[in-house]
Amino acid sequence: MSKEKDFDTAFFGQPRGISTLFYTETWERFSYYGMRAILLFYMYYAVKDGGLGINETTAASIMSIYGSLVYLSGVLGGWLSDRIWGPRKAVLSGGILIMFGHIALSLPFGMPALFASIALIIIGTGLMKPNISEMVGELYSPEDRRRNAGFSMFVFGANLGAVVAPWAVPAASAGFGLNLWHGNNFHAGFSLAAIGMFFALVQYVYGGHKYLTNTSSEPQDPISSEELHKLIVRTVIAVVVVAVILGGLAAMGQLNIANVINLITVIAIGLPVYYFVRMLKSDKVTKTEKSRVAAYIPLFIAAAIFWGIEESGSVILALFAEQRTVLHIGGWHFAAANFQTLNPLFIMILTPVFVTLWSRWKNQPSSPAKFAAGLVFAGLSYVFMALPALIHGTTSGRVSPFWLVGSWFIVEIGEMLISPIGISVTTRLAPNAFKSQMMSMWFMTDAAGQAVNAQIVKYYSSATEVPYFLSVGVVSIIFGIVLMFMVKKIHSLMSGID
Ligand code: PHE
Ligand code: ALA
Repeated sequence: MSKEKDFDTAFFGQPRGISTLFYTETWERFSYYGMRAILLFYMYYAVKDGGLGINETTAASIMSIYGSLVYLSGVLGGWLSDRIWGPRKAVLSGGILIMFGHIALSLPFGMPALFASIALIIIGTGLMKPNISEMVGELYSPEDRRRNAGFSMFVFGANLGAVVAPWAVPAASAGFGLNLWHGNNFHAGFSLAAIGMFFALVQYVYGGHKYLTNTSSEPQDPISSEELHKLIVRTVIAVVVVAVILGGLAAMGQLNIANVINLITVIAIGLPVYYFVRMLKSDKVTKTEKSRVAAYIPLFIAAAIFWGIEESGSVILALFAEQRTVLHIGGWHFAAANFQTLNPLFIMILTPVFVTLWSRWKNQPSSPAKFAAGLVFAGLSYVFMALPALIHGTTSGRVSPFWLVGSWFIVEIGEMLISPIGISVTTRLAPNAFKSQMMSMWFMTDAAGQAVNAQIVKYYSSATEVPYFLSVGVVSIIFGIVLMFMVKKIHSLMSGID
């Protein structure tokens, strides 16, 4: 088997299976980021404008908590694949759920469809995203040196989908400028996301059949009946606890969106804390491994702050685009949703620059130092957004779109310093007995960041933009500087990992 893997160079020098996973990821990310580009507006636009008329603050909170749950559910998806289904089946069922999630929003069923869609896409992405990433790794034997290049290619595939979607999906909502319908028809946009996900499934089923290995159809560490029994007991307890909390809230007349969001925020922050404690206490983890886990704590916090700012691009910066930005350059008009293309666009532009930089730079900084610099860039991208109001002396009226372009450019430099480095350092710092849990931890950095966002976005409005951008930006910069001072200490705790 592994011989066969080594000699397969059919897709730009990479194994043929990578093309299947590449295009599947492209179309899945197309559907996800296309949907997210218009979802915020769909939620808070008035009913007469085709929206749901949810108030703007609640809509912003929902965007963030939804984004948080999408990556938190990776814990379940990763587990299900490791212990019961194997990645092949997990990815397929996840993809089907995601497609139905987009279909739900393409139908005119208002709030019930919104919540059904959110639930389907959370579970579906949890099943798909961590497991498709794992399958990329599985295409290479451990000694295969093309592995990192394979991962870069895969990430490129994701961004290819994410760069096109914020043009295509809003265009579909607007009837492609053909007067197909009056004003905005968000359902048409969501239909295009569903079609994108359908293409992902076609790719996956058709290509997977021919090019993916059979091992991916088996769980890596099948669960024993004794463990299954324990698990059922624990699941029942967890379900009862959540039901009791929700029931208690209902009894007190407090069961509302805001409190459900608060509860999820607590879980998204509590779960990684629980994982850290478990790894640091486990007998299966050696002393050196524990030191590496300890080193991961500040890196986790740094990544969470980073993703908090990065992910606010589809919430805070989307609001800024809609409310405070001139939506044309000369005669070229565009929609607020189109700005979502900038994040993946800058990733595609900057990736080759950074790949070259790292391959040439001999005494390059360690991963914690890169993280520290990444946080400073993220903070600067926010401070930059306080400037237009400071310069114009007012937060009313519209400013040049180049403010947003500049801010996204700065934060994407930060993403170059955190995203690829983070995923790699996470896997390398993982204790042997907790390999897949550590992978889930990486997804949890994003989930925790967005869970905090769900709380703080409530304080954002055009009137508060200056203090909002400045305070969040400065917190990130300060944490980056503190981290810089800790680099030596963290690096030594990493015990030989760079
Ligand atoms: N933009 C990233 C992606 O879609 C967000 C992410 C970060 C997801 C970290 C998971 C973990 O891949
Ligand atoms: N920045 C987003 C991600 O990394 C698009 O895929």
